[in-house]
Amino acid sequence: MSDSDDPIFDSKQFRTVLGHFPTGVTIVSGMDGDSPVGFTIGSFTSVSLDPPLVGFLPMASSATWEAIERSGSFCVNVLSRDQADLCWKFAKSDNESDRYDDVAWHPASTGSPIIDRAVAWIDCTIEQVYEMGDHLFVLGRVVALEADADHDGNGPFPLLFFKGTLGGFAAEG
Ligand SMILES: Cc1cc2nc3c(=O)[nH]c(=O)nc-3n(C[C@H](O)[C@H](O)[C@H](O)COP(=O)(O)O)c2cc1C
Repeated sequence: MSDSDDPIFDSKQFRTVLGHFPTGVTIVSGMDGDSPVGFTIGSFTSVSLDPPLVGFLPMASSATWEAIERSGSFCVNVLSRDQADLCWKFAKSDNESDRYDDVAWHPASTGSPIIDRAVAWIDCTIEQVYEMGDHLFVLGRVVALEADADHDGNGPFPLLFFKGTLGGFAAEG
Protein backbone atom coordinates (compact mmCIF):
# COMPACT_ATOMS: atom_id res chain seq x y z
CA MET A 1 0.00 0.00 0.00
CA SER A 2 1.47 3.43 -0.95
CA ASP A 3 1.34 6.41 1.46
CA SER A 4 -1.51 7.94 -0.55
CA ASP A 5 -3.59 4.81 0.20
CA ASP A 6 -3.13 5.20 3.97
CA PRO A 7 -6.58 5.46 5.60
CA ILE A 8 -7.51 8.59 7.57
CA PHE A 9 -8.81 6.41 10.42
CA ASP A 10 -7.15 3.83 12.67
CA SER A 11 -8.10 0.18 13.25
CA LYS A 12 -9.89 1.05 16.51
CA GLN A 13 -12.25 3.40 14.69
CA PHE A 14 -12.75 0.79 11.94
CA ARG A 15 -13.77 -1.81 14.53
CA THR A 16 -15.98 0.64 16.45
CA VAL A 17 -17.89 1.87 13.40
CA LEU A 18 -18.28 -1.60 11.85
CA GLY A 19 -19.47 -2.84 15.28
CA HIS A 20 -22.55 -0.64 14.76
CA PHE A 21 -23.72 -3.07 12.08
CA PRO A 22 -25.74 -5.77 13.93
CA THR A 23 -25.28 -9.39 12.91
CA GLY A 24 -26.63 -12.79 13.76
CA VAL A 25 -24.23 -15.21 15.43
CA THR A 26 -23.24 -18.59 14.02
CA ILE A 27 -20.86 -21.37 14.88
CA VAL A 28 -19.24 -22.71 11.75
CA SER A 29 -18.40 -26.33 12.54
CA GLY A 30 -16.33 -29.03 10.91
CA MET A 31 -14.29 -32.14 11.63
CA ASP A 32 -10.55 -32.41 12.18
CA GLY A 33 -10.21 -36.16 11.69
CA ASP A 34 -12.39 -37.63 14.46
CA SER A 35 -12.55 -34.39 16.47
CA PRO A 36 -15.23 -31.73 16.12
CA VAL A 37 -13.91 -28.18 15.57
CA GLY A 38 -15.63 -24.83 15.16
CA PHE A 39 -15.53 -21.10 15.69
CA THR A 40 -17.91 -18.18 16.21
CA ILE A 41 -18.63 -16.37 12.96
CA GLY A 42 -20.77 -13.25 12.43
CA SER A 43 -19.86 -12.67 8.78
CA PHE A 44 -22.16 -15.39 7.46
CA THR A 45 -24.32 -14.50 4.45
CA SER A 46 -26.58 -16.05 1.87
CA VAL A 47 -24.99 -15.68 -1.59
CA SER A 48 -26.99 -17.42 -4.35
CA LEU A 49 -30.25 -19.38 -4.64
CA ASP A 50 -29.44 -21.21 -7.90
CA PRO A 51 -26.98 -22.73 -7.36
CA PRO A 52 -27.46 -22.66 -3.56
CA LEU A 53 -24.40 -20.85 -2.17
CA VAL A 54 -23.55 -19.22 1.18
CA GLY A 55 -20.37 -17.61 2.48
CA PHE A 56 -18.42 -16.35 5.49
CA LEU A 57 -15.09 -14.67 6.23
CA PRO A 58 -12.59 -16.34 8.63
CA MET A 59 -9.21 -14.87 9.57
CA ALA A 60 -6.60 -16.13 7.11
CA SER A 61 -4.44 -17.25 10.08
CA SER A 62 -7.18 -19.33 11.77
CA ALA A 63 -6.08 -22.85 12.73
CA THR A 64 -9.73 -23.89 12.98
CA TRP A 65 -10.32 -22.82 9.40
CA GLU A 66 -7.20 -24.72 8.30
CA ALA A 67 -8.66 -27.92 9.81
CA ILE A 68 -12.12 -27.35 8.32
CA GLU A 69 -10.64 -26.64 4.89
CA ARG A 70 -8.74 -29.94 4.98
CA SER A 71 -12.03 -31.80 5.51
CA GLY A 72 -13.68 -30.09 2.50
CA SER A 73 -16.97 -29.26 4.24
CA PHE A 74 -18.55 -27.23 7.05
CA CYS A 75 -21.91 -26.66 8.75
CA VAL A 76 -23.22 -23.22 9.77
CA ASN A 77 -25.17 -23.32 13.06
CA VAL A 78 -27.32 -20.21 13.68
CA LEU A 79 -27.33 -19.65 17.45
CA SER A 80 -30.47 -19.02 19.47
CA ARG A 81 -30.87 -16.40 22.21
CA ASP A 82 -30.34 -19.23 24.74
CA GLN A 83 -26.88 -20.06 23.35
CA ALA A 84 -24.91 -16.90 24.27
CA ASP A 85 -22.45 -19.02 26.27
CA LEU A 86 -21.53 -20.92 23.08
CA CYS A 87 -20.85 -17.63 21.25
CA TRP A 88 -18.12 -16.67 23.74
CA LYS A 89 -16.78 -20.20 24.19
CA PHE A 90 -16.21 -20.68 20.45
CA ALA A 91 -14.61 -17.22 20.12
CA LYS A 92 -12.00 -17.69 22.89
CA SER A 93 -8.47 -18.59 21.88
CA ASP A 94 -6.40 -21.49 23.25
CA ASN A 95 -9.46 -23.62 24.14
CA GLU A 96 -9.91 -25.27 20.72
CA SER A 97 -9.99 -28.84 22.07
CA ASP A 98 -12.50 -27.96 24.84
CA ARG A 99 -15.03 -26.04 22.78
CA TYR A 100 -17.41 -29.02 22.38
CA ASP A 101 -17.26 -30.07 26.05
CA ASP A 102 -20.90 -30.31 27.25
CA VAL A 103 -22.19 -29.39 23.77
CA ALA A 104 -24.72 -31.86 22.28
CA TRP A 105 -24.32 -32.40 18.53
CA HIS A 106 -24.79 -34.95 15.80
CA PRO A 107 -23.21 -35.21 12.34
CA ALA A 108 -24.76 -33.67 9.23
CA SER A 109 -24.53 -35.57 5.93
CA THR A 110 -21.05 -34.10 5.32
CA GLY A 111 -20.00 -35.23 8.83
CA SER A 112 -19.82 -31.65 10.17
CA PRO A 113 -21.46 -31.11 13.60
CA ILE A 114 -25.08 -29.93 13.85
CA ILE A 115 -25.32 -28.30 17.28
CA ASP A 116 -28.53 -29.23 19.14
CA ARG A 117 -31.10 -26.47 19.54
CA ALA A 118 -29.59 -24.08 17.00
CA VAL A 119 -32.17 -21.87 15.25
CA ALA A 120 -31.09 -23.29 11.88
CA TRP A 121 -28.24 -25.26 10.33
CA ILE A 122 -26.80 -25.16 6.81
CA ASP A 123 -24.54 -28.04 5.72
CA CYS A 124 -22.08 -27.21 2.93
CA THR A 125 -19.21 -28.42 0.84
CA ILE A 126 -16.41 -25.92 0.18
CA GLU A 127 -16.83 -24.48 -3.32
CA GLN A 128 -14.13 -21.77 -3.44
CA VAL A 129 -11.85 -19.85 -1.08
CA TYR A 130 -10.79 -16.29 -1.98
CA GLU A 131 -8.07 -14.24 -0.26
CA MET A 132 -9.37 -10.86 0.92
CA GLY A 133 -6.90 -8.76 2.94
CA ASP A 134 -6.26 -10.48 6.29
CA HIS A 135 -9.42 -12.62 5.86
CA LEU A 136 -10.62 -15.28 3.43
CA PHE A 137 -14.01 -15.41 1.77
CA VAL A 138 -15.24 -19.01 1.92
CA LEU A 139 -17.96 -19.88 -0.55
CA GLY A 140 -19.96 -22.98 0.37
CA ARG A 141 -22.39 -25.06 -1.70
CA VAL A 142 -25.41 -25.99 0.41
CA VAL A 143 -26.12 -29.73 0.47
CA ALA A 144 -28.76 -29.79 3.24
CA LEU A 145 -30.41 -27.33 5.62
CA GLU A 146 -33.11 -27.16 8.29
CA ALA A 147 -34.72 -24.58 10.59
CA ASP A 148 -36.45 -24.92 13.97
CA ALA A 149 -35.52 -28.60 13.93
CA ASP A 150 -35.65 -29.47 17.65
CA HIS A 151 -37.77 -26.75 19.18
CA ASP A 152 -41.08 -28.61 19.52
CA GLY A 153 -42.69 -26.53 16.77
CA ASN A 154 -41.99 -23.21 18.55
CA GLY A 155 -39.61 -21.12 16.44
CA PRO A 156 -36.73 -20.02 18.71
CA PHE A 157 -35.41 -16.45 18.79
CA PRO A 158 -31.96 -15.76 17.30
CA LEU A 159 -28.95 -14.36 19.12
CA LEU A 160 -27.78 -10.93 17.85
CA PHE A 161 -24.42 -9.13 18.18
CA PHE A 162 -24.21 -5.32 18.29
CA LYS A 163 -21.42 -2.98 19.53
CA GLY A 164 -19.58 -5.86 21.20
CA THR A 165 -22.54 -7.20 23.15
CA LEU A 166 -25.17 -9.89 22.69
CA GLY A 167 -28.93 -9.45 22.71
CA GLY A 168 -32.22 -10.79 21.41
CA PHE A 169 -34.68 -9.94 18.67
CA ALA A 170 -38.07 -8.25 19.16
CA ALA A 171 -40.48 -8.01 16.21
CA GLU A 172 -41.79 -4.45 15.75
CA GLY A 173 -43.18 -4.39 12.24
C1 LIG B 1 -20.05 -12.43 17.69
C2 LIG B 1 -18.71 -12.79 17.09
C3 LIG B 1 -18.58 -12.86 15.70
C4 LIG B 1 -17.34 -13.21 15.12
N1 LIG B 1 -17.24 -13.26 13.76
C5 LIG B 1 -16.05 -13.56 13.18
C6 LIG B 1 -15.92 -13.61 11.76
O1 LIG B 1 -16.87 -13.40 11.02
N2 LIG B 1 -14.70 -13.92 11.25
C7 LIG B 1 -13.61 -14.16 12.06
O2 LIG B 1 -12.52 -14.42 11.53
N3 LIG B 1 -13.71 -14.13 13.40
C8 LIG B 1 -14.91 -13.83 13.98
N4 LIG B 1 -15.01 -13.80 15.35
C9 LIG B 1 -13.83 -14.10 16.15
C10 LIG B 1 -13.54 -15.60 16.22
O3 LIG B 1 -14.63 -16.33 16.75
C11 LIG B 1 -12.31 -15.83 17.12
O4 LIG B 1 -11.21 -15.14 16.57
C12 LIG B 1 -11.97 -17.30 17.29
O5 LIG B 1 -10.96 -17.40 18.28
C13 LIG B 1 -11.48 -17.94 16.02
O6 LIG B 1 -11.17 -19.29 16.27
P1 LIG B 1 -9.71 -19.87 16.03
O7 LIG B 1 -8.82 -19.11 17.00
O8 LIG B 1 -9.87 -21.29 16.37
O9 LIG B 1 -9.38 -19.58 14.61
C14 LIG B 1 -16.23 -13.47 15.94
C15 LIG B 1 -16.38 -13.41 17.34
C16 LIG B 1 -17.60 -13.07 17.90
C17 LIG B 1 -17.74 -13.02 19.40
